[in-house]
Parts: sequence; structure tokens; C-alpha cells
Amino acid sequence: MDAKETVFDLKEEILALKKERNAVILAHNYQTGDIQDVADYVGDSLGLAYHAKATNADVIAFCGVHFMAETAKIVNPGKIVVLPDKDAGCSLEQSCPADQLEAFLQQNAGKNYYVIAYINCSGGVKALCDVICTSGNAVKIVNQAPADRPILFVPDENLGAWVMEQTGRKMDLWKGNCYVHVEFTRESIHKIKAEYPDALVVAHPECTHSVRLLADEVCSTEKMVDYCKNAPVKNIIVVTESGMLHRLRKECPDKNLIAGPTDRCACADCRYMKMNTLQKLRDCLDTLQPRVEMEESLRKRAEAPLLRMLEQSRG
Ligand code: 13P
Ligand code: SF4
Repeated sequence: MDAKETVFDLKEEILALKKERNAVILAHNYQTGDIQDVADYVGDSLGLAYHAKATNADVIAFCGVHFMAETAKIVNPGKIVVLPDKDAGCSLEQSCPADQLEAFLQQNAGKNYYVIAYINCSGGVKALCDVICTSGNAVKIVNQAPADRPILFVPDENLGAWVMEQTGRKMDLWKGNCYVHVEFTRESIHKIKAEYPDALVVAHPECTHSVRLLADEVCSTEKMVDYCKNAPVKNIIVVTESGMLHRLRKECPDKNLIAGPTDRCACADCRYMKMNTLQKLRDCLDTLQPRVEMEESLRKRAEAPLLRMLEQSRG
């Protein structure tokens, strides 16, 4: 932003470009507050996937990380999908390269795995899977898996372990994790609970088992909104990425929403989510770059398990 350009100017420019391009702005709950405030829809990975599929806009400006924008392209290939910063990745996506998963499946071909992939993975990984899930529907999706086949769950071992607890279904877990959520510890949550003894704790299922054990509720970012709205107390400790606090404070103005701390920081930021800025959003609407593109045969293979998820998630 040059010296004279204010946030107000930028927002005006973004709204004008949005109209000119016939674009829709979709933003994840972890985006900075200024981006959330200018978006048409703010939500979790599941809500964003539904919105990306349903939109009539010509351009989807996706404020989130790459796998989310790529998902939008997979389910709505006729649209131009732009991402403010093309380097906005995800540690979970990085923990499961498609070639490693393919080699693992070949080595274990005799097992006839039913492969369930958390949506936080590349299009290449999606193309190797039977069905996709998000943190919002993982329990539902696992409950619909064929009973006679062993399940391989990739790439998040913490979400996978939580789903096993919820469903009682045994699964083999890929050893990936979210570098942000594993930073919360039993000690850091105990400390903040001691400061707010009457507070309830809501945590994301990407947190480790020892942190989940301290939570009153474990759920996706979108479900956190309902949980906080309906909680019978004022103080709620929110154990997830810091952007969530902006959304929650807007939706639940009567609640005192406290960021869950890590051992090192008062809250946890995802460096990838925070690569997007208002300026970069303006620029991508202006230049329609960087674009998310995908080779058609790969897109088709990645689309099938995503559509299966959207179908199974409705039921
Ligand atoms: P949600 O789908 O719950 O928003 O989670 C996405 C994510 O990246 C969590 O780290
Ligand atoms: Fe990936 Fe974790 Fe960032 Fe979510 S918070 S986008 S899982 S690195």
C-alpha cells in the first residue's frame, strides 16, 4: 500500500473490481479481519467448497490457502480462480506428496484400502482417493465407508485419531499434521484455563490428543460459531488459528472470546493463511493472476471423490 492509499481506498477498489470482473470473494475463517470484512462469504473448508461449486460469478477470488482454491477449481472448472498469494500452502498438504501416497498404495495393493483424504491435500492426492472429508463432515464420511474394507486416512493423524474416537472405526493413519495446531500443548491450555476457571474450551480436531482431552467441544471452524453463540457462559477459550477470533467476535458480540495460547505465543497464526493481504486481493482481481489451473484428466480424477463427499455430506 503506498503512503496515501488507505484501507478504505483499497476496500473501495476491491469492491469496484469485483463488480467489473463479476467476481465473488470467498474467504476462510483464518483470513485477516480486513479480508473477511470485504468477502461475500466467510466459512470453513466445507462451506467454501459448496459456495465455490454453486457460484454463478465468472471469477472466484479465493482468500485462503492453495488447496482450498484448487478445490474451487476442481468443482467449478469453468470459472477463473485466483488466489491472492500463490505461495499460500499448508503443512498438511506438504506432509503427503502424491507420489509417496501412490507408492504406498502400490506397496500395499493387497490391502485394498478405502482411502479417505482430508481436504487439506493436493489435487494429486485427491485423485488417488475414494472420498474426501473436511473437519466439518469427517465423522459422517467415515461412518459411510464400506464396512468390509480397511481405511487409510490421509494426511492428518490428529484429525484421523479424533475421528476414530468418534466413530469407533479403526483406520490406518498417514503421519502428517498441522504445524499450527500441534503448537498448542496441554501445559499452555492448562495455564489459560487457570486464568479463566469458568471458561469453556473449544478446540479444532487438528490439535493433539492431549489438547483435545482438555476441550469441552472439538469441531470445525464453522461449528465453532454455533458452539460459541449457544454456550451458556461468557468466557470461551478458542484453540485454533487466530483469524477465527475475528469471525467469532463479530458473530458473538456478547461473548469474551479468548485466543488459546501456545507455549511460545499468546495466539497461533498460520503463516500461509496470513500471506494473503488486502493489497494482494486487489491485485489479483485487477490482473486475474495468479490463477489456479489444473490439467483436465487430473481434475476429473480429483473431482470424483470431492463430489462423493458433497453428496455424502448432505445426507
Ligand atoms: P476448517 O475446515 O475447520 O475451517 O479447517 C481448515 C483448516 O485448515 C484448519 O487448519
Ligand atoms: Fe494448513 Fe494448518 Fe494452516 Fe490450516 S492452519 S492451512 S492445516 S498449515
